[in-house]
Amino acid sequence: MKLLRAFSGCLGLMLLPAPALASVSALHPPVELIDIDGGAALTTGRPVSTMRTCGACHDTGYIAGHSYHVWLGTNEEKFTPSGRGFDHGPGLLERFDPLTYERFDPEQFDLGLADWLRRFGTHHVGGGFAVQSADGRSLMELPSNASTSPLTHVRGVEPGTSEPWDWQSSGVVEMNCFLCHLPDPAVDERSAELRAGRFAWAATATLAETGLVTREAGQWQYAADHFDADGKVPATLLPLRKPASHNCGICHGAVQDGPDEPFFLPPSVDRPMTETTGEIIAGTRIRRSGMNVAGKEELSRPWDVHAERLLVCSDCHGSLNNPAFFAESRQTQPTHLKHPTGRLAIGEFLKTPSHDFGKGHSSQATVARDLDGSGRDCVDCHRLEGTHTWLPSVERHMSSMRCEACHVPRLYAAARRQTDWTLLSPEREALVNYRGVKGDPHDPRTLVAGYQPVLLQRNELDGSTRLAPQNLVTTWYWLDRQRGRPVPLPQLQQALFAADGSYRRSIVQALDENHDGSVTIEELRLDSDAKVAAIQQALQSAGVADAEIRGEIQPYGVHHDVAPGVAALRDCRVCHGGDSRFSRSTVLADYVPGGVMPVMVQDATVRLAGDLLLSDDGRLLYQPNATRAGIYLLGYESFPWVDVIGRWSLILVVIGVLIHGGTRVFLASFADSKKETEVRS
Ligand code: HEC
Ligand code: HEC
Ligand code: HEC
Ligand code: HEC
Ligand code: HEC
Ligand code: HEC
Ligand code: HEC
Repeated sequence: MKLLRAFSGCLGLMLLPAPALASVSALHPPVELIDIDGGAALTTGRPVSTMRTCGACHDTGYIAGHSYHVWLGTNEEKFTPSGRGFDHGPGLLERFDPLTYERFDPEQFDLGLADWLRRFGTHHVGGGFAVQSADGRSLMELPSNASTSPLTHVRGVEPGTSEPWDWQSSGVVEMNCFLCHLPDPAVDERSAELRAGRFAWAATATLAETGLVTREAGQWQYAADHFDADGKVPATLLPLRKPASHNCGICHGAVQDGPDEPFFLPPSVDRPMTETTGEIIAGTRIRRSGMNVAGKEELSRPWDVHAERLLVCSDCHGSLNNPAFFAESRQTQPTHLKHPTGRLAIGEFLKTPSHDFGKGHSSQATVARDLDGSGRDCVDCHRLEGTHTWLPSVERHMSSMRCEACHVPRLYAAARRQTDWTLLSPEREALVNYRGVKGDPHDPRTLVAGYQPVLLQRNELDGSTRLAPQNLVTTWYWLDRQRGRPVPLPQLQQALFAADGSYRRSIVQALDENHDGSVTIEELRLDSDAKVAAIQQALQSAGVADAEIRGEIQPYGVHHDVAPGVAALRDCRVCHGGDSRFSRSTVLADYVPGGVMPVMVQDATVRLAGDLLLSDDGRLLYQPNATRAGIYLLGYESFPWVDVIGRWSLILVVIGVLIHGGTRVFLASFADSKKETEVRS
């Protein structure tokens, strides 16, 4: 096993802190739960403030100030005038997300801040914009008549349609340390508080599984008998520790790091990583899962080899000033890092652990682009020398593709393919279909065939390009041309649905092809100009004067679910053969709403090199073109002059053979005839 660097890295992670902590104690010290005004929550009965509670010993201001999870791309110019020294790119908050559609837009918001927190706050760790307004004041200090969006209010922009919000009584959403640092955070209880708009209670509710709090008649109560004589809670009840993978999975994707039980996971927007790529982080063998994977008896590989070998997310996406991480290799420290880069003593790290986690150069999210390349990449842990000896031109192969191109050959779950927001389902959701399955992926009996991600050229940070596996998700939506942004969902719903929740009569008339008086799922597609015009008309009545359909292709990088060597791609013909991956087309969509051809999103790190084609049955295909991607795949492509050279060399060889062989034949027959003459004579 040539993984020495990996081992030293991982051992470093495990061993380094030990000597320093020996002087502290093995267990976390008891913690006093403190409310937002500094009182003991046990006596005041008010919600726990994580910033105050943990802030007694850890620098929570620093932690929340160094976390792109907190800020989600809302940079300090907008939010904290004297805050961090660098800008973070736009994040989830302001970006159009094809999965959830709605976004919070401080300039022209679709949703007010309180609305956003109630609906999508479960995907935010809290802190930042959920605590303070654009001018750095606490949201609770805002005048009581402030609109839902204190940000726009503060900047004097016309407030939108939202109701006023009373931040005094809702409280704010502080960074929720429990979510990542408790083995069993009560995710559902937290979500319920957020949805109800009882923001201040969200962190307290996350403690529900510890037994320290209980809910009685809708009110959270502290279980006084669990607190010690000093009013503190011992580590046995509040087992604070480093995050496990399932903590990160709360927001990112399907993680099964518990006992080895069969599981079935239907697609869900709450697991975006799995929804968009089909990645499932589990150490169990695919064979043993409850998913109905085609040919699963043969699949003895684990879902994710790193999960099988007990690596956790933070082994690759750890704190950027963790001394264990720092000690390992300069290579993992990006040179452009605008960070405190001096190595911290372990005690300092415990006080001020950066919560900016190592990350890569992903093709989907644009948050914290300045930290791209700070995570551990494959070659930071795996040594290549002496491996892959079966492969000719190892260096050429490695410089033209990422390791995942061979090591994530296939994903064994449904992954989203198409999202159509031009019409809405009766449940008022987007119309969605998946790749990797035939049938309803929510039904455990549906056979999961899985899919091969497409290989696209990715612009690497060192200026090179390499092929990287991606899932392409194509989305169509209505653009409000006057305001230059997607039509807000409430307006779209108003256009399509009557007050009783059914489709408007005009919509039914436009879509009902079989004239049975209702709209079936098959009829829910804009496949004629008349239907498009009908929806435009309906949008006009809902106040959108000029709407047009837009389509965009969003690539999602595939970097997890690494297969062990035995299951990696080895067959040269997969890439070099006549039926190579570079000649095979991929279905992007089952149909093209409004006939509008989609375009690649602007900020992706990968590019399409090929053509979008419509098949005879109306499906949208991506046909890759290796030549345009700038790669020459021996044995597959016909590259004109390489072929000419090849043909000529063949001809020359044949001529050579003929001359050589001919001469020999001639000489031989000459010799033979000589012999014959000799014998005869
Ligand atoms: C009374 C001081 C004190 C308070 C309050 C406190 N901590 Fe700690 N914390 C420590 C000390 C000391 C350590 C180092 C000992 C250890 O590793 O358990 C530590 C370690 C940690 C660790 C690392 C544990 C590990 O296994 O490596 C985490 C995570 C942590 N604290 C989170 C929190 C969170 C979250 C809160 C608030 C709920 C909090 N702490 C409140 C003193 C405190
Ligand atoms: C999004 C998840 C997340 C949240 C929320 C979070 N942390 Fe962390 N925390 C981490 C990760 C990841 C690390 C780094 C682990 C590593 O590098 O190995 C870390 C490290 C730490 C450490 C150092 C522990 C050690 O020895 O590695 C402390 C202390 C800590 N966090 C406290 C807090 C406090 C206090 C809060 C709330 C204000 C908080 N964390 C919120 C994920 C989180
Ligand atoms: C409360 C929800 C939540 C939790 C818990 C959480 N994350 Fe995130 N994470 C997010 C969101 C939201 C984003 C931003 C995504 C975007 O901008 O589209 C993000 C972004 C990231 C990114 C950067 C993504 C990119 O494309 O480069 C990494 C890496 C990451 N998280 C790792 C982790 C790790 C490791 C943990 C566990 C310690 C964790 N996250 C826990 C919500 C969460
Ligand atoms: C063995 C290392 C490793 C582990 C373990 C790991 N990741 Fe990653 N992760 C990567 C690499 C490598 C990338 C891609 C880096 C790049 O884009 O250059 C990545 C990318 C990401 C991204 C960015 C989106 C994307 O896919 O491009 C997110 C978010 C993320 N990981 C979250 C997680 C979470 C959550 C976990 C734990 C459940 C986890 N990772 C475990 C190595 C790892
Ligand atoms: C944080 C360090 C780290 C990173 C980053 C990392 N790995 Fe690993 N990898 C490991 C460790 C540790 C093992 C387990 C080694 C063992 O058990 O022998 C492992 C195992 C593997 C294996 C299985 C080897 C076998 O025995 O069959 C493969 C393949 C692999 N990694 C590929 C990758 C690829 C591809 C990437 C990038 C996407 C990557 N690794 C990123 C540390 C890492
Ligand atoms: C052309 C496809 C291909 C590429 C590219 C590739 N690998 Fe592999 N890799 C394989 C195959 C196939 C095996 C299994 C070899 C065997 O069984 O002898 C393997 C084996 C491994 C192993 C297990 C080693 C062992 O001795 O068992 C590791 C670790 C690994 N690869 C890491 C990487 C890393 C890191 C990269 C990127 C720098 C990478 N691979 C790029 C195809 C590839
Ligand atoms: C995952 C796809 C993939 C697999 C599997 C693969 N290759 Fe390649 N191969 C490539 C790519 C991509 C290139 C680089 C083309 C370029 O950069 O123009 C390449 C280049 C080459 C080259 C030309 C190298 C040079 O220096 O010009 C040879 C020879 C080659 N491959 C042979 C093989 C053989 C033999 C196998 C099987 C043992 C194999 N490849 C497996 C994708 C693959």
